[in-house]
Amino acid sequence: MTHRAAHTEESASLLDALAAAAEDQIVFDLPGIEERYETLRRELPGVDVRFAMKACPVDEVLARLAARGSGADAASPREVEQALSAGFPVARMHYGNTVKSDQNIADAHRLGITVFATDSLEDVTAIAEHAPGARVFCRLATTGEGALWGLSNKYGCPPADAVAVLERARDLGLTPAGLSVHVGSQQMTADAWRDAFDRIAGVLEALHRRGIPLDHVNLGGGLPALGYRDKHGRALDPPMDKIFAVIREGMARLEEIPGHRLGFVVEPGRYLIADHGAIRAHVSRLSARRGPDGERQYWLYLSCGKFNGLYEMDQLQYRLVFPSHRDAESVPAVVAGPTCDSDDAFSHEHGLIPVPKALASGDPVWVLSSGAYATSYMTQGFNGFSPLPYTWIDGGDA
Ligand SMILES: Cc1ncc(COP(=O)(O)O)c(C=O)c1O
Repeated sequence: MTHRAAHTEESASLLDALAAAAEDQIVFDLPGIEERYETLRRELPGVDVRFAMKACPVDEVLARLAARGSGADAASPREVEQALSAGFPVARMHYGNTVKSDQNIADAHRLGITVFATDSLEDVTAIAEHAPGARVFCRLATTGEGALWGLSNKYGCPPADAVAVLERARDLGLTPAGLSVHVGSQQMTADAWRDAFDRIAGVLEALHRRGIPLDHVNLGGGLPALGYRDKHGRALDPPMDKIFAVIREGMARLEEIPGHRLGFVVEPGRYLIADHGAIRAHVSRLSARRGPDGERQYWLYLSCGKFNGLYEMDQLQYRLVFPSHRDAESVPAVVAGPTCDSDDAFSHEHGLIPVPKALASGDPVWVLSSGAYATSYMTQGFNGFSPLPYTWIDGGDA
């Protein structure tokens, strides 16, 4: 199956919506998101999708995924409420955040959540107290190697601790139901998945020996967006066919471990959304300034940056289109956002970005593959810059 040609290209209707936008905004391509969801279902047949809603807590996006049969991975009571009102049945939701207070657990339980992630004795004990009888899955730590954002250390536990946590769950009247991993966000290697399956297999075997049967494995997030460029400006080209093949093989292997009757869950965030959201911004100024070394350097300041839509510029050089200057003479520039914060700049130690030399203040710029974590990572008026408004296309009309 080929992925790149079909999936990194923005749909004509998304580009039309960007072209039609007179003001800054983020546009979501709902049919594109649905198509990506269906691709995932075909690639991982029988696996339940729980959309990691933190990647795009936008009601219209959530409603479309819910209508397709997706579930939701919620990380707070507020996300549970939003998912419920977007139409996700509570039976297709879980509380996937291992970090939670007693109050968070009680609130989620009151809202009907019966499945919780955990990774420590303290947390599982609190779940038993505030969500009695719940089902829990224990998150195993991974190295995060091969991912752009490793997500290691803060979550998950080693295999032996997972066994202890699930034993404690059973002793406290909870149902030890599953194991989970997260291989790291924008995971570029199939090997990371292989390692994760090895870890999971070891714990399943240990649990079998202790008479603790599980009913599911949650493979977490980490499936990559297809249209990103790294901080060198190189197109990231994730080996999707290989990744999906390794996941299918890994699941088949786990199903053979005795003592468990496993279903599988996956929690994609950026894979579903990133390539089907794009920002219409504008040029604030293209300047050529001399640095302390006396060298002249072009800086392109945009109306949107790290604090209003492009948070992941620490690792990405977002793809830019300058629709009013196609095929024009270009100059290498550092691209930066509009705020007074020096972190508000694309990573540039590894390569500058060619931009049209004739850019003028007010010219439109499109930022492609910027849909994931864009609306959720916007500050409220830092330096007076408001969060970007969003809109969506629904099969043709913006
Ligand atoms: C528990 C959990 N699941 C899924 C995701 C989604 O990750 P990604 O966007 O890499 O698919 C995250 C992201 O932080 C997460 O914390």
